Amino acid sequence: MAVNVEVPLSGGEVTEGVVRVGETVRRPYGAHSPAVHGLLRYLEGVGFEGAPRVLGVDERGREVLSWVPGETPQRPLPGFAVTEEALRGVALLLRRYHEAVVSYEAPQGAPWDMAASRLDGEPELIGHCDVTPENVVFRGGVPVGLIDFDLARPTTRMYDVVTTLRHWAPIADPGDRDWRLCQVDVGRRVRLFCDAYGLDRDGRREVLPAARVRFERSYEAMRARAENEGGAWARIWRSGAGTRIRRAQDWLESNWDELDARLV
Ligand SMILES: Nc1ncnc2c1ncn2[C@@H]1O[C@H](COP(=O)(O)OP(=O)(O)O)[C@@H](O)[C@H]1O
Ligand SMILES: [Mg+2]
Repeated sequence: MAVNVEVPLSGGEVTEGVVRVGETVRRPYGAHSPAVHGLLRYLEGVGFEGAPRVLGVDERGREVLSWVPGETPQRPLPGFAVTEEALRGVALLLRRYHEAVVSYEAPQGAPWDMAASRLDGEPELIGHCDVTPENVVFRGGVPVGLIDFDLARPTTRMYDVVTTLRHWAPIADPGDRDWRLCQVDVGRRVRLFCDAYGLDRDGRREVLPAARVRFERSYEAMRARAENEGGAWARIWRSGAGTRIRRAQDWLESNWDELDARLV
């Protein structure tokens, strides 16, 4: 007898009530969901395999997405998530996603979640905007899927690159990193990521300045979200998200020259 058991999924910190039911995932339907579903349907149409499929809305009004088979790194990060191969794979996956999405013309006025931080500049594509370890599915040690498109919105490639580097290089104070990443050579990893993504020389020059802008914006955006939306955002803020960003900013500034030398 098939029983629709609901298995709570707690990988991310943000969305309450994410459950797995068989080969599907049920998530709360938000104001941004129609925009995200348009994006996911487009990705399906162009044959991009590295994202969940939209299967509809269930009897409880939740979005129904396909389960992407594989493993999503949780904290503390498993060894397979911190290797240079994994990092290279994430860069390639992000690049493939960007190639797939760049010709997507989202409907005018699509209700993206715009409360998160943005870089200046003309949007080039719909970015994922939240490529954390918890939002990447691995199979056999290889990153194969992006999940959790809640923060997807019009942005630049560079925004997605620096956000991803923030979590994966990682650009963070060593004391705030997952233990397996405390000692890594971040300059080498940033370089490796940019090589794998295929950033040209001009692009590389933009990475650190873009990270600088992004940290400041995300500090402001997270504080505003904690104040305006409360809930999980307030909890994350209370747990020290703001001070972690401040420490990451300090770390970036004190390591700037070395990172810059590695990049260019
Ligand atoms: N479509 C999916 N395929 C596979 N795993 C998923 C899927 N959706 C969610 N998960 C798992 O559930 C966790 C939390 O889901 P997520 O959508 O990222 O919510 P949050 O907004 O809380 O980060 C993920 O880290 C992952 O482990
Ligand atoms: Mg998530």
